[in-house]
Amino acid sequence: MNSKILEIMLCALRNRNGGACFSIIHHLFNNLSATFSIRSSPPQSIPSTNSIVPTHKTPPTSSSSSSLAVSICSLLCNRVSSNSDNIDHVLGPYKGLLSSNLVLRVLMSYKQLGRSKTLTFFSWAGTHMGFRFHHSVVDYMLDFLCRRKLFDDMKCLLITVSMHNQGSVSCKALSICIRFLGRNGRIREALSLFEEMGTVFRCEPDNLVYNNMLYVLCKRQSSEEMVDLALSIFRRIQSPDTYSCSNMLVGLCKVGRLEAALEIFGRMDEIGVLPSRSAVNILLGELCSMSAKEGSVEKVRVKNTRRPYTILVPNVGCNSNAISGSIQPAIAVFRAVHSSGLLPSSFVVVKLISELCRLGKTEEAVEILMIAEERKLTCVEEGYSIVIRALCEHRRVEEASKLFGRMLQHGLKPKLVVYNSIISMLCKLGNLSDATRVYEIMNKKRCLPDNTTYAALIHANGERKDWKVAYDLLNEMLGFGWIPHFHTYNLVDSLLREHDQLDLCCKLERKLENKKLQKLCKNGQLDAAYEKAKSMLEHGICLSQSARDILKDVFQKCGKLNVVRQLLETANRA
Ligand SMILES: *[C@@H]1O[C@H](CO)[C@@H](O)[C@H](O)[C@H]1NC(C)=O
Ligand SMILES: *[C@@H]1O[C@H](CO)[C@@H](O)[C@H](O)[C@H]1NC(C)=O
Ligand SMILES: *[C@@H]1O[C@H](CO)[C@@H](O)[C@H](O)[C@H]1NC(C)=O
Repeated sequence: MNSKILEIMLCALRNRNGGACFSIIHHLFNNLSATFSIRSSPPQSIPSTNSIVPTHKTPPTSSSSSSLAVSICSLLCNRVSSNSDNIDHVLGPYKGLLSSNLVLRVLMSYKQLGRSKTLTFFSWAGTHMGFRFHHSVVDYMLDFLCRRKLFDDMKCLLITVSMHNQGSVSCKALSICIRFLGRNGRIREALSLFEEMGTVFRCEPDNLVYNNMLYVLCKRQSSEEMVDLALSIFRRIQSPDTYSCSNMLVGLCKVGRLEAALEIFGRMDEIGVLPSRSAVNILLGELCSMSAKEGSVEKVRVKNTRRPYTILVPNVGCNSNAISGSIQPAIAVFRAVHSSGLLPSSFVVVKLISELCRLGKTEEAVEILMIAEERKLTCVEEGYSIVIRALCEHRRVEEASKLFGRMLQHGLKPKLVVYNSIISMLCKLGNLSDATRVYEIMNKKRCLPDNTTYAALIHANGERKDWKVAYDLLNEMLGFGWIPHFHTYNLVDSLLREHDQLDLCCKLERKLENKKLQKLCKNGQLDAAYEKAKSMLEHGICLSQSARDILKDVFQKCGKLNVVRQLLETANRA
């Protein structure tokens, strides 16, 4: 043990951070032999405010530790010199009054004192109290040093305290040090502190220490090697709690060892330990990602043929740790945590619902959606969208209609994609009356249709030879500036011709061409717009007022208004 301490102290002296705890070290060196020689003698009595009779000069008048602390702080600020060499003189009268409580109060005024005087005071007080502080003082000081990354001083303090207090360093103190070391990437140092707990500090790690060690290994670092180490530490914990298990779950998930994570999850279930919400999120998220990978297909371009084409190749065995069918465990984990009253984040719930839908497991998706609804998660609307789309793709009319109705009942606002899925499905199934009904609801709820909505309805009406409705819809679609696909337009055009509605054909053509022209203008395709206008005029198609306006406008903006004027005037003259 001696050589270990000396090693640490020498190292501390070498790397000193601006004189922080030098006096602690100094004190230690001077007192080292004394300490060892008095090892067998009983410890000195611990000073307490009650038993103290001040022996120095003017005894301080007040006895309450808060006013003593105020006096000491003010002396430190105003009377102690900047290099602190007069501290013993200035604070002399207070020597006998020192108690852990008082020291802690002074330390807590560190903002007023500044770092250097805080540390000086601590060393001074420690020297006089033989570093027999209450744990709360030591914990506070360790936290203070760690936050300022004074890790060598932190180690010195640990050793000093443990030597003076017959090895009594609290588990809390060690867990603070381990956590901070880990946070600063000093994993090896954290580990060696952890391993030395028994030998150097004679302290049995408790769950706080274990959990901080696992936190460092699993959350901060998490390489295969670190996670293996964590597992071996985890197995030493007699009664692992929420945090031990959750840290372990996170670490295992991070390195993709989902099977091991599930094993721990199963054990937690047996011993009745709940995971933390973030651990559940990570575990479920990873299971979903894994499931998506298992089932994903890769697009492969086949080039050595006359016409290259793409084929889909299932993506198998990309990860040796993969568990096939990760979605089953995901559902099981979700159900288990839900029955314990815990729910994953909205983000993860959406991920799970999406993956279930992708796999066609819509029943499970609906089950989870209903739970999300009951627990008022923010993802409910998105969940409905995803599930309804999936149900529509699988042509599950009744279930989709039921969910859609439920959305409306609950005052949720279906998105365009929901309306489109349902309308397209109903149209494909030839259920035009219901499709129209949904379209009307959509209008009433002020959700604007897009070209997909119109295309579905136009084709369905076209098949019924209902030229009037088809024409109205196409007209409305153009009114919103949507350009139909060629076959959609063609369908209506032929239908009108079949029914001798040639004037409507002309109106439709004029509207279409004008919309195309406006679109070219809006996209800044000036040459194409010019050609379009020219060709329209040649074919005797009138330019609408709004088309003329936008045409002039865009050409004016690039200083070519004349070109357009000329074109339009020639047309007028003809
Ligand atoms: C060594 O410790 C004793 C109390 O144990 C103290 O009185 C003495 O001043 C210390 N020596 C130094 C040099 O700090
Ligand atoms: C249309 O679908 C609804 C359910 O959404 C059903 O009740 C109705 O009978 C169907 N109509 C036709 C003509 O298939
Ligand atoms: C709708 O318009 C987008 C471009 O805005 C186009 O990619 C898509 O093919 C159109 N869909 C239909 C059904 O017209």
